[in-house]
Amino acid sequence: MKRVILVTVCVLVALSLVYAGDFTYIGAKKCKMCHKGPKKGEVYEKWEKGSHAKAFETLKAKGEEKNPKCLECHVTGFNAGGYKVGDANAAKFEGVGCESCHGPGSEYKKMSIMKDLNKSKENGLIIPDEAVCKKCHNEKSPTFKGFDFAKYAKKIDHKYTKK
Ligand code: HEC
Ligand code: HEC
Ligand code: HEC
Ligand code: HEC
Repeated sequence: MKRVILVTVCVLVALSLVYAGDFTYIGAKKCKMCHKGPKKGEVYEKWEKGSHAKAFETLKAKGEEKNPKCLECHVTGFNAGGYKVGDANAAKFEGVGCESCHGPGSEYKKMSIMKDLNKSKENGLIIPDEAVCKKCHNEKSPTFKGFDFAKYAKKIDHKYTKK
């Protein structure tokens, strides 16, 4: 019996360690310092020029910037630790930011972790696939007209390494 209890306790401790990582949203500006400029593929600049960065402006233009039914897909981390209507930090999370696709960055943003892809993933980094896009690019979008992953991925491409 004692052994069963011991094993149970060990399993619980191990589980709590695995789930200890509470990753939180930090906003695209925090990624900028390391992911801007020609040497780093102008990742930030490309994103800033694209329509994801402007997704909140799109809602404003329609007078729908407070409608939770729209915000869900037009901001970063809506009501999940990112964008929240009326929050002092809300501006950081306007639009579809880096973390909408790559996951909340509070832990993986550190240089010592970012340098190592596996460590980054353990700390919340997502290398997005089609399923990630389809969380927003789906029939629930009032303007949906289909989603061709290959075609759409090309439009937002910001790869700069040869991988
Ligand atoms: C302190 C600097 C720093 C910050 C801040 C930072 N990164 Fe990175 N990131 C790196 C470095 C270094 C690499 C390794 C590739 C390289 O050297 O260009 C990297 C790689 C990546 C990769 C590619 C992983 C791979 O190998 O395919 C992604 C995706 C990424 N970062 C996303 C982000 C996002 C999103 C943020 C903000 C939430 C962020 N990074 C913040 C330094 C940083
Ligand atoms: C958090 C929600 C969300 C996610 C995740 C997301 N998108 Fe989007 N995407 C949008 C919104 C909202 C727009 C429209 C922005 C606007 O025009 O205001 C958009 C627009 C686009 C456009 C521009 C379409 C056009 O005709 O101008 C492309 C291309 C695109 N997304 C590709 C992708 C790809 C590829 C992925 C996955 C790797 C992805 N998106 C993930 C919400 C998202
Ligand atoms: C399920 C996610 C989702 C929801 C909810 C959503 N949108 Fe979008 N919205 C998108 C995506 C994705 C796009 C990009 C269109 C595309 O290329 O498929 C977009 C694009 C748009 C555009 C640009 C249309 C164009 O063709 O250029 C407008 C305007 C817009 N949305 C308004 C709204 C409004 C208003 C609401 C709330 C009533 C809303 N959206 C709710 C995902 C969503
Ligand atoms: C709409 C989703 C989306 C957004 C927003 C987005 N990314 Fe990405 N990112 C991707 C996809 C898809 C890839 C390619 C993944 C792969 O290798 O298959 C990628 C790849 C990367 C890479 C690796 C580049 C390489 O050469 O391998 C880095 C670094 C990166 N993103 C950083 C960022 C940063 C920083 C931002 C915000 C300024 C950002 N991303 C915004 C979807 C997104």
